[in-house]
Amino acid sequence: MSDFNQKLNPPPFKIKVIEPIKKTTRGERRKWLEEAGYNFFNIAAENIYIDLLTDSGTSAMSDYQWAGIMMGDESYAQCKNFFNFQGIIRDITGYKYVIPTHQGRSAENLICYAFDLDHTKITVSNQFFDTTRANIEISGARALDFVIQEAYKPSLIHDFKGNIDTMALENTIQNEGNVSLIILTVTNNAGGGQPVSLANIAEVSKIAKKNNIPFFLDAARFAENAYFIKLREKEYQHLSPKEIAKKMFSYANGCIVSAKKDGLVNIGGFIALNDEQIYRRITERMTVMEGFPTYGGLAGRDLEAIARGLTEVLQEDYLEYRHQQLEYLGKGLEKAEVPFLKPVGGHSINIDAKSFLPHIPQSQFPGWALTVALYEYYGIRAAELGSVAFGRQQEDGKWIFPELEQVRLAIPRRVYSQEHLNYVIDSVVDLYKNRTKITGMKITYDPGVLRHFTARFIPIVKE
Ligand SMILES: Cc1ncc(COP(=O)(O)O)c(C=O)c1O
Repeated sequence: MSDFNQKLNPPPFKIKVIEPIKKTTRGERRKWLEEAGYNFFNIAAENIYIDLLTDSGTSAMSDYQWAGIMMGDESYAQCKNFFNFQGIIRDITGYKYVIPTHQGRSAENLICYAFDLDHTKITVSNQFFDTTRANIEISGARALDFVIQEAYKPSLIHDFKGNIDTMALENTIQNEGNVSLIILTVTNNAGGGQPVSLANIAEVSKIAKKNNIPFFLDAARFAENAYFIKLREKEYQHLSPKEIAKKMFSYANGCIVSAKKDGLVNIGGFIALNDEQIYRRITERMTVMEGFPTYGGLAGRDLEAIARGLTEVLQEDYLEYRHQQLEYLGKGLEKAEVPFLKPVGGHSINIDAKSFLPHIPQSQFPGWALTVALYEYYGIRAAELGSVAFGRQQEDGKWIFPELEQVRLAIPRRVYSQEHLNYVIDSVVDLYKNRTKITGMKITYDPGVLRHFTARFIPIVKE
């Protein structure tokens, strides 16, 4: 029996190459924190013990992918790896046109251009990821989120907290009249990696078709979403993750994908779609900023690694292992009553920092204080998704704080073992027991936009 009464099967792989990680002392970490202005984006990665900042671009590749790297055909145009990449993506998505991009945000930028987004247009999502929103807003269009209300209740259990409120979607289409693009993010990263059901995807498809609005999936974590559907939507239990993924894509007109997540690679992305006219517009535009349409800012070897990663990510034993890792972490924290967003997401555990640190008001950034403490005491790096990342300061100096104050522990794919997870559980639980010792933070430098990357802080010392 394991420590936390939770069966965790061994991973469906063994280790061939290792990367050392360094233990540091609390004294050293305090010094580095001070030098970094208490901003963990300024701390050297080699001084992080367990890095849970993101699951993006942090995956470990397989020997099959590394072998593919050696098979890179670096011809400028029509390299052989593109055809493998195109074939595999066509097979998974069912879309005819496949366009590589150097990462997800360039796919977003190209889509905004191809659909002529401007200040007269509205786009709607369950929840836009922040770079998607930024690309849309730079184009002048509005980006509206209509994730279901259950998503905002951290302790509420719901199978598909990533679903969009289809009534709100329909009302907006009827009342505003200029909805030009619908994008469903699967799974919903901004909402803790919560999945979207096939029933919800199908309903959105119907609404989009009826109103003649293009409908895309932001499918960075499509395989994790497919696995949740298999586990939670009874009628699809008998299908393989690949068959479910294909169904998901079949309801949309296309997808934008950051391959840095379920592509199991460190860089890359793509767009896939059926509309020839939109495909032409994208390929004309991309040649001036992203590269020729058969490489899209990537090397031939990168295309090969993505193609191979996309086949591996859909293997059921991999997805089962991935899901179990997250569940194991969740069970360990739950046992000690650490408050976090329920149910466990596909790629992260999002700690509810408001409940974890009720003695710290949002004006003193409890989420940020929690990430600082996680690093100072245990060498763990996590991401704040709270008042620093999403709070807005008005012209009169008043702050508008987000509803949720979260700290995300994102789990890189195929990187950390059960022992690492045990360390994370023990650390978070220990911190929770000593939570009253954690104090709030004060901002000493605020860049205004994208604050979390460059802001500087000092801890508020208790009187
Ligand atoms: C849902 C989602 N869409 C888009 C992106 C942007 O992808 P990239 O970082 O490859 O530009 C991300 C990145 O985290 C994401 O999670």
